[in-house]
Amino acid sequence: MKATAIAPSNIAFIKYWGKKDEKLRLPENGSISMNLSNLKTVTTVEFSRILKEDAVIIDGKSEKKEMERVVKHLDRIRKIANLSDKVKVISQNNFPSETGLSSSASGFAALSLAASKAAGLNLSKKELSILARQGSGSACRSIPDGFVEWLNGDTNESSYAYSLHPASYWHILDVVVIISQDKKDTSSTEGQKLIMSSPFFKVRLSNIKRKISLCKKYLKEKKFSELGELIEAEALELHAIMLTSSPSLIYWLPGTVQVMRLVKKLRSEGLSVYFTVNTGQDIHIIVEGRSRENLLEKLKRIKNVKKVIVNEPSEGVRLINRHLF
Ligand code: PMV
Repeated sequence: MKATAIAPSNIAFIKYWGKKDEKLRLPENGSISMNLSNLKTVTTVEFSRILKEDAVIIDGKSEKKEMERVVKHLDRIRKIANLSDKVKVISQNNFPSETGLSSSASGFAALSLAASKAAGLNLSKKELSILARQGSGSACRSIPDGFVEWLNGDTNESSYAYSLHPASYWHILDVVVIISQDKKDTSSTEGQKLIMSSPFFKVRLSNIKRKISLCKKYLKEKKFSELGELIEAEALELHAIMLTSSPSLIYWLPGTVQVMRLVKKLRSEGLSVYFTVNTGQDIHIIVEGRSRENLLEKLKRIKNVKKVIVNEPSEGVRLINRHLF
């Protein structure tokens, strides 16, 4: 059977950084995110007895490292479905991959739904989230709708994401500012292995539960500036850990810092905007829907800004009928 799924990427308000179990991808702490309407992956999967070997094509290419990670994920699904057929996978991102825009989140979410369906399984959202997590941690948050919490469970079954609020709950935007389309030199998977070498990681963990409950409270009460302050401080804390890891991880480019400074300047002039950054040079600006045009106008004046992608909150992964082959 053939199945196709579409999944959004997501932006973490409270970040996941570090695993307590490498193999199962159990995180050191819980996290909170919003699904993004304009950063998407579409994936078609077909299992077939006729195929002699697995074929995986992502954005028109078959790269060994990505292929191995995808096949490992497909093996998990074959095991659950008790299937030995080979598989064909074609996947397309509508944005550059591996630059820090979380293509692995949308990618493994779409793959989990399309492949499990194509294997004849009917997994619940919770089961899909558990499955997607094992492919890429942040992918478990791209399964449920809208604003999402990933629970910090100690076992495979208790570490999954669920929806806190649907996409229509609050019209806040994530404006992604592309600084460069160059691939980052250290992947999130590799970078996270360095957490314990930063003297600040333990300090972060001692405070994280409080941050998660504050984030949920501000979301519930729709307190935009309190939420924004928290998101921005959280991103800077994450990068303090990266900068003080050994070897250090420096993901920012001059354009990243320029946009951070612009955001602070705009705030001092009365525009309520906040930034967050993941592993990469690109930067996300969180803004209320009504301030969108004002912000976009200001960004046009910055030379280092290559492209801007405006995202609304989005529903999570779903099946579609338009197959890629
Ligand atoms: O799921 P990964 O391995 O791509 O890690 C994601 C890490 C961050 O994007 C930095 C934080 C997050 O929670 O998305």
